Amino acid sequence: MATAVGTQSDLGDLLHQLIELDYDAIEAYRTALARFEDTGFRSQMSSFQQDHERHVHELSVLLRAMGREPPEGPDMKQYLTKGKVVIAGLLGDPAVLAAMITNEDDTNTAYERAAARVDLSTELRELVEHNLADERRHREWLREKLAASRASAP
Ligand SMILES: [Fe+2]
Ligand SMILES: [Fe+2]
Repeated sequence: MATAVGTQSDLGDLLHQLIELDYDAIEAYRTALARFEDTGFRSQMSSFQQDHERHVHELSVLLRAMGREPPEGPDMKQYLTKGKVVIAGLLGDPAVLAAMITNEDDTNTAYERAAARVDLSTELRELVEHNLADERRHREWLREKLAASRASAP
């Protein structure tokens, strides 16, 4: 499903779901990494996976500071449009790249919504904006690789 993350009225609920979304992204990257035929993609993709792991960690620290226990893994809800199950069934690098772009559309939308809020503390705003910049960079790289792989397709 297209993610509704970022629309929560309660700030703690928003952080909780952002963390679950980032867990979903980690799982999707892990699955995509195992499927890539082009080994050159793997180091970049694993650095993106690590960015999402950092997002989980840093958001969890702030949620805990609000007196709430952060989630410790992905939710059953599956926020991403093309989560790990879909990725696992795809054939060929272009199909995997296209699916990961769709997922990064979801992470971009969620962080854009979060960044548009007016009730963020300075610390949380800096974190959300930094994460949004990461998500934009991820999507841009994936788009470039997909365009290049289509241009070189036989
Ligand atoms: Fe993330
Ligand atoms: Fe990302």
